Order: sequence, then C-alpha cells, then structure tokens
Amino acid sequence: MKRILTGLQPTGVITLGNYVGAIRKMKQLQDEYDSFIFVADMHAITIPQDREQLPKNIRSLVALYLACGIDPKKNTIYIQSENIYHANVSWMLECNSYYGELSRMTQFKDKSRKNANFTVGLLTYPVLMAADIIIYDADYVPVGVDQKQHVELARDIAIRFNKKYGDTFKVPDFYYTDTEVKIMDLQDPTKKMSKSAENPKGVIKLLDDLDDVRKKIMKAATDSEAVVRFDPENKPGVSNLMGIYAALTYKSMEDIEEEFKGQNYGTFKKAVADVVCSELEKIQARYYEILNGKELDRILDEGREKTLAMAKEKYEMMKKKIGLYRG
Ligand code: AMP
Ligand code: TRP
Repeated sequence: MKRILTGLQPTGVITLGNYVGAIRKMKQLQDEYDSFIFVADMHAITIPQDREQLPKNIRSLVALYLACGIDPKKNTIYIQSENIYHANVSWMLECNSYYGELSRMTQFKDKSRKNANFTVGLLTYPVLMAADIIIYDADYVPVGVDQKQHVELARDIAIRFNKKYGDTFKVPDFYYTDTEVKIMDLQDPTKKMSKSAENPKGVIKLLDDLDDVRKKIMKAATDSEAVVRFDPENKPGVSNLMGIYAALTYKSMEDIEEEFKGQNYGTFKKAVADVVCSELEKIQARYYEILNGKELDRILDEGREKTLAMAKEKYEMMKKKIGLYRG
C-alpha cells in the first residue's frame, strides 16, 4: 500500500481553505493509502507564538482532524515535536542542502520580506519539512499548491542523499488531484483564504459561529453582472463562491451555472451559505465532543510510539551511512 503524509501548522483555527485543500483530501484518500497526518508544531515556531496559546492550538488541531473525519483506525496521527528524530534527521539533511536553494523558496522570500528580522528557522523550514516526509518513506504528499515547491525540494534532497550515501529514502511526490481548488478570500478574491488574513470578514474558520459564517458569505465580494458564471479572471468573487459550492457538493461548474441560471446573487449566496453551514455544523458538533474526551490522548500516544520506532530506524541508518559513530 502506498503511503501519503501531510501536516498542518497549529497556528490559529484552520480555515475552509485548509479543510478543502488538505484535510478533506486526506479523508478522501484514507481508504486507499497508508495515511500519516500530523501537527507541524515545530514549523509553527519559525515565527513567534504565544506559549500559552500554542498547546491549546495543538490539541484543537488534532480534535479538528478527527472531527473532519480523519479516522484514527486508518491514519497514524501524531505531534511533530513529540518525536525527537524529526529535528535530528533535519540537521543531517541541512548539511546536505544548500543556502542557495533554500533562499530561493517563494514562501521564504515572501515571509522574510515582510519581516527583515526573520529567524534562521524560517530559512531551514523546508528541510525540516523534507525530514517529516522522507523519514517515513512517504510516496505522496497531499498539500495545497502553495506547498508544492517544498515537496519538490524534499524530492531533490532525497535524490541527492541517495546518490551520495546509497539508497536510503523513497523519493516523494506532490499529490495531484484533477479538482485542485484554492479557496480565495471572500473580501479580496484575488488572495488565497488564509488564517493570517488581516480582515476576518474574508475568512471562514471551521469553528466560526454559524451566523457569522452566513453573514460573511452574504457579504462576499461579487460584481455587477448578476450572472452566476465561472470566470476567475473577470469574476473572481463569484467564481470563488462557485468553487466553494463545487467543493462541498461535488457538482461541476457547468451544473452550478445551470442551477442558478436567471437567479440573483442573493439566492446563490444563500445556497452557498447553506452548504457551508451544514458542513461546519457537523464538524463543530463532533469537535467539542472529541476535544474533551479521553480518546484524543490515547490516539496521540499511539501515534507517537509508532512513529518514534519508525523514525529511529531511519535515523540510525543515516548515522551509519554518514559515519556518525565511534570508530
Ligand atoms: P497553511 O494554513 O497556509 O499553513 O496551509 C496548510 C495547508 O492547507 C496546506 O496544504 C495548504 O496548501 C492548504 N491551504 C491553505 N489555504 C488554502 C486555501 N485557501 N485553499 C486551498 N488550500 C489551502
Ligand atoms: N509546511 C506545511 C504548511 O505550512 C506544513 C508541513 C510541515 C507539512 N511538514 C510537512 C506538510 C510535511 C506536508 C508534509 O502547510
């Protein structure tokens, strides 16, 4: 069975974009693949985090995974920082990665431009991500397109290591789907919907109050044409709402155009709000049950023990190949 692996950072409540782009993709694949899903808490500290809030976010993200339908019987679920080997393997990979390739990463360029006083961790972040992936010999990495460059780097690092030290890692691949959706900001539909957006009105978070969600959708930016038609370039707002509707109902854009022919935006938005709220309502009900239950810790303990044993094996193998042992 091929293996898939993904992680999300515990930085604030995840958005509808994360849900559709990453978590739901994993849920759809969990029957066909050996699935690993984790909390990338060490990636989160590449930028400052509140130390009281961070542990709450970590727990909350796991509860959300489960509430979104990630089945603990079909997935290995764990927290990155509970496994010391990720950082150890990352160091050995860092010593086989180049400043040039890391400084060329788009995400690094963007984030370091925004804050000139960035940490070295922000630069080496993709190497830790490569370690997360190749330590478990993952075949595919289902992430949103914005993370594709990092997966490609993980490939390069794995290939390079294998060439230098002999076959050690499986070479991973970005997981492509034919319905690759990027959910955009409701207020500024030219930007992706992001946890860190300045204007909360443009972002739907999975734990938002449902009345607020409805309001945000009803107030989403559209255009003056009053025709429900998919045209991301000229009608980014309407096309984004169609994308959300399509993602949650599995309807095609043509079917959606047909369904709302001759109807105004108010009616269309109400339909979008209905499907989003109904999806979130189910997730939220399960979330609060799971968050306070005992099951969550049991699942994480199991995930930690399993991944520690797997990672240790790879780590020892790497040490030997590199020559890190008493001669
Ligand atoms: P981030 O919140 O940017 O750290 O992303 C976590 C995961 O969710 C990654 O796999 C992203 O590619 C995916 N993701 C984030 N925002 C969106 C979005 N607006 N649409 C689709 N996928 C997204
Ligand atoms: N960098 C990813 C993000 O911000 C999170 C992540 C860390 C990840 N390690 C990973 C995703 C390994 C997939 C595989 O979204």
